[in-house]
Amino acid sequence: DRHLFIEGVEISPLNFTGTIRVDAILSGEVLSASGARHWESFDATSWSRGAVLSGRTKSGLVAALASHMEVDDASTAGPIERENGAGWAAERCRLPVRVAETRGLHRLVALVSSRDVAAPIEVVEARGDELARRPIAEHLGRHAAAWDERWRRADVTIDGALGLERALRFGLYHLLAAANPDDPRCSVGARALSGEAYRGHVFWDTEIFMLPFYVHAYPEAARALIGYRHHTLPAARRKAASLGYAGALYAWESADTGDETTPSVVVTPFGEVIRVRSGELEQHISADVAYAVEACVRATGDEDLLRGPGLEILMETARFWASRARCGADGLFHIDHVIGPDEYHEDINDNAFTNWMARRNLRAAAAAALRFGIKREGEAPGVDAEEIARFRAIAERMYTGHDPSTHLIEQFAGFDRLEEIDIASLGPRHAPLDVILGRARTQTAQVVKQADVVQLLALLWDEVPAATRRASFLHYDVRTGHGSSLSPGVHALVAARLGLHAATERYLDQTAEIDLGNAMGNASGGVHAAAMGSLWQAVIFGVAGVRAAPDHDEALLIEPRLLPTWRHLGSPLSWRGRQLDVHVEPGAVEIAVAGPAPLPVRVGSDGEPHREVLAEPGRRYAARRVDAGFGPWEEITS
Ligand code: IFM
Repeated sequence: DRHLFIEGVEISPLNFTGTIRVDAILSGEVLSASGARHWESFDATSWSRGAVLSGRTKSGLVAALASHMEVDDASTAGPIERENGAGWAAERCRLPVRVAETRGLHRLVALVSSRDVAAPIEVVEARGDELARRPIAEHLGRHAAAWDERWRRADVTIDGALGLERALRFGLYHLLAAANPDDPRCSVGARALSGEAYRGHVFWDTEIFMLPFYVHAYPEAARALIGYRHHTLPAARRKAASLGYAGALYAWESADTGDETTPSVVVTPFGEVIRVRSGELEQHISADVAYAVEACVRATGDEDLLRGPGLEILMETARFWASRARCGADGLFHIDHVIGPDEYHEDINDNAFTNWMARRNLRAAAAAALRFGIKREGEAPGVDAEEIARFRAIAERMYTGHDPSTHLIEQFAGFDRLEEIDIASLGPRHAPLDVILGRARTQTAQVVKQADVVQLLALLWDEVPAATRRASFLHYDVRTGHGSSLSPGVHALVAARLGLHAATERYLDQTAEIDLGNAMGNASGGVHAAAMGSLWQAVIFGVAGVRAAPDHDEALLIEPRLLPTWRHLGSPLSWRGRQLDVHVEPGAVEIAVAGPAPLPVRVGSDGEPHREVLAEPGRRYAARRVDAGFGPWEEITS
């Protein structure tokens, strides 16, 4: 129940017997950790069961809280009194305590806002009363049952990597807590619900790093997150139009309305004021959102999502790229003046990640529009054959930066001519590369802040030739400083798929340390939700090797690459309305499927023929490794 907070306190006096006074306060004067005010104006008063705080928030919502405190064994406590002061309202209890005895009390707080009801202040007391009538055990029971269900569909177990399993669960807890399947008007900010860094703003972190977890563990939440991007499409249209383009360009940092909220400057710890250009130039966000639509539809099989909001997002983002790409003298389409995922290099041309993702976006829009009909009344207004042909032509002739002779993808036009720096020779680093080298030198060197071409490999794996995956990963791996928490998890994923066990392990550990080890030194701003999502992806998409079969809509593919020290990796997975259990052990894979219909599941190793089984709901199957590949699936009957 997102409209109920419960706070509990236990008191066990070590050396005191007597009366303790406990004040449970609602105060409108409490500031956020960074000193920001929550309320524009507020009132703190009493109601028949406790304290009330209500008013208008800084972001223009009307909100009201009604709290009610109870002592666990009320018969031995004095009556609860109420008192109001300037800006606060309190419930006060005098609690007799005895040394070495524990007493408990708790308060329930009902929260209602104008996002939920028309007149929150009028209804909050009735809501509080409803909650207070029910025993606390009932509230806690419902809460625990809801969490049990979330964990049943999400919990990953690893035998052989205890610390990693713990970090993963820590991350999944935050991701599960932050998403709201019932509210498509909100998304998950970069620090989830845990801190104020980035002010709760929504980045590509959600679609590219977190959404895959939701799609496979909490698909209702994934749909709501796509709903948020649909809801903010008008703002994305406004942004594209303001820059002179067609279609929709999503905000790099997005909040309630979807209008751009990226600050235009930041002040460094050394007092230097730096212009922030990502709000204007980091445009791959539109293709990232389109990619997420595709991934969500593919994994859920939700045709209505594709036919409705999905198609609109795909078309509008594709329209943006069609108006944005420029046809060069070489007959190819180029995208100039962007920032790619690697934010050390600004205002660059032909960032490979942006171009490949835009191409994917154009193709996906064309395919969806053709599938659901061109110019069919009421379905996809504005779609016409000429436009689809144009999307396809631009996609076919998009500049990719891929050199088939070296198997390398150039990160952006001119990257290969920048100064080469052996970043390993800089020794153990305690600051990001741009701080060590200085901003100016970083911008003119082949040093990469975060996975960029490697990010492309992770997302578009099946579009990249095998030799290019390996060569490009090795090339950029030694050039990447991992100055963003988003980076090591992606390197872990790609290293795992390439069978590079030592690198996989190192990057998994690095990702796991970001929050639990405060490895980036900024834990006070909150957890790094994208890194948490990337850890899940590295384990499930990388080590377990799960992905959509490239040539079959329904089939799920498993190409396991268990690390040598791991004895077992197990995970539930939601896939096209079925619930799977996947277990990977040295030399074997086991699956069980639950749901309405059989599911094709394939197992294999990269380059070896895959083995497919049409897995029947309620049955279990295993496939064992034979030489480089896998033997046929067998049903487990015991
Ligand atoms: O979205 C990221 C970006 O890629 C790197 N800087 C931090 C942002 C929020 O996590």
